Amino acid sequence: MSKKIILLASGNGSNVENICRFFKQNLEVQILEVYTNNPDAGVLKRIKPFGLKGYIFNKTSFNNGDVLKEIKKKQPDLIVLAGFLWKIGVDWIDAFPLKIINIHPALLPKYGGKGMYGSHVHKAVKENNEKETGITIHYVSEAYDKGTFIFQNKVALTTTDTICDIEAKVSALEQKCFPKVINSLLNNI
Ligand code: GAR
Repeated sequence: MSKKIILLASGNGSNVENICRFFKQNLEVQILEVYTNNPDAGVLKRIKPFGLKGYIFNKTSFNNGDVLKEIKKKQPDLIVLAGFLWKIGVDWIDAFPLKIINIHPALLPKYGGKGMYGSHVHKAVKENNEKETGITIHYVSEAYDKGTFIFQNKVALTTTDTICDIEAKVSALEQKCFPKVINSLLNNI
């Protein structure tokens, strides 16, 4: 039986697109749906070629449990947060223990927590003159960016790297590693 994934994203969607591309020819893995809290999110355009239209929700349906109820009905094997910026509630974690994962664009525990997302992370990395940065894929827990790590990978930085350069280096790592990590998790379910 094929494994089922649900993706959540809030913005651009380069990771979602890459994950869709990676699993396109794989009959063992089915991307059921992409959920977004943002009706203007770039991700909605990116998923069209894969025959996915996206499920848009608002704060009310997220907070009152309607979104979770919908997702429960679909019985996913894995829920993947790929640039999803709202905090996942404890009701989700109870419903899907060790089945919700997130990608963070830094080497946690550094540069995590509330407000640390996207370019804010890379700006902080630059301001601290870090010699390296990277990605962390982790299980989602009640505290932002504090769940058990599944995978980390690093990239070296130079003093001349701009915030955009750092972002591009991290994005390249995400593109290379995230689908493979998802695949290996699915193989062990
Ligand atoms: C990615 O770099 C992801 O790691 C980051 O948002 C970006 C989304 O890009 N996530 C966080 O910062 C979560 N705290 P994308 O929409 O192009 O995939």
